[in-house]
Amino acid sequence: MEKLLIKGGKSLSGEIDCSGAKNAALPVIAASILSSDDITLKNLPYLQDITTMFELIGSMGADISLDERMNFKLNTSNLSNLEARYELVKTMRASILVLGSMIAKYGYAKIALPGGCAIGSRPVDYHLKALEKLGANISLKNGYIEAKTDKLVGANIEFEGVTVTGTENLIMAASLAKGVSILTNVAKEPEILDLANFLNSMGAKISGAGTDKIIVEGVEELSGTTYEIPADRIEAGTYLIAGAVTNGNITINKIDPERMGAIIENLKKAGAEVISNGKSISLNMTNHILKPVNIITAPFPGFPTDMQAQFTVLNCMGQGESRVKETIFENRFMHIQELNRMGTNIRIDGTTAIINGVDSISGAQVMATDLRASASLILAGLVAKGETIVDRIYHIDRGYERIEEKLSNLGAEILRLPN
Ligand code: UD1
Repeated sequence: MEKLLIKGGKSLSGEIDCSGAKNAALPVIAASILSSDDITLKNLPYLQDITTMFELIGSMGADISLDERMNFKLNTSNLSNLEARYELVKTMRASILVLGSMIAKYGYAKIALPGGCAIGSRPVDYHLKALEKLGANISLKNGYIEAKTDKLVGANIEFEGVTVTGTENLIMAASLAKGVSILTNVAKEPEILDLANFLNSMGAKISGAGTDKIIVEGVEELSGTTYEIPADRIEAGTYLIAGAVTNGNITINKIDPERMGAIIENLKKAGAEVISNGKSISLNMTNHILKPVNIITAPFPGFPTDMQAQFTVLNCMGQGESRVKETIFENRFMHIQELNRMGTNIRIDGTTAIINGVDSISGAQVMATDLRASASLILAGLVAKGETIVDRIYHIDRGYERIEEKLSNLGAEILRLPN
């Protein structure tokens, strides 16, 4: 298994470009099933999760090719196999995103039930109950969800709890339903707006995305389109923290700072000088003292759970006590044990991590357990004295494009070790 070797202690400086957002790209690829025409996607990140989503729609019969400008062309007009197999779903829970588009376009979908995963049980009951309200007939058998309908019909749906992929599934399904759907208590994440923009560019009639009430007027069919995937706010936030914990001075280009309100606000509270400039964000931590910040994760526009592990590392390097409360996933503290092996002082009390800042940490051999946990271990490795080896980095490759190359460009000493 490949590993990352990090020699810590370098202050990061320089500029890098942000990649396309994984969580914007995955629903957009799934939504391509709704059209029978060609779809061109620009700025897709080269990530394992994107490959898995391509494998999934490819296994159903989608035609996927790359043009001379490295844009992906998708055509799903010949889907012959309306089944998402367990072997693929188990490696990526976001596979559930094909459910909404398959049932809307083909009136049938068979998808392996995503099981438990490292960061909690992550059920899909909100997705299924909402699809039933649109007229889908759903049964669970042999570990699979089977959904059938003659035709989905628009409905008023209030989600039981806020769910990002659930909201996305319903927007996709309602786009080809007969009549109007009013979705309330929906997720407001920027990636919801991205999906709505993509679908509207195909002829869908969706309004309200980005607020907690979305109205979808069903249409007969959706056309092809060309769409550019927006930048990844979580990737950008992770590099900004890398700059902060190493007392660096860095700039992230090709990012929309408007999407990063809670992250920027808390970096400022931590003592960083952060300047947003149209499409870039600069962070300067040289000659500033790191102050820990109390964090509570929440749905957008709150502090993202996907940045919790990374911000915990920042708090470890500040002076004094701080608390990080996780409210979205019940088991998202798996990085803490590994961080403590490097010399941090964190204890867990229920859903809160209580952190006491330390003067320094030391390199160690550590194991990644999930995507964002691996990012936190790399951040710790950048600060630690001596060498850190991060094992099981396939987790990081699911969500960070060429991380060692980008960090090297900022002056980090980081190497990918072969198997
Ligand atoms: C998405 C993101 C993930 C992010 C998460 C929260 C993608 C591909 N993934 O995941 O990176 O960490 O949002 O911002 O966009 N829940 C239920 N029943 C359901 C659905 C969800 O109980 O049917 C619960 C979950 O267990 C969790 C909470 O609702 O506690 C929020 O989960 P959700 O927003 O659905 O996360 P994902 O869409 O899986």
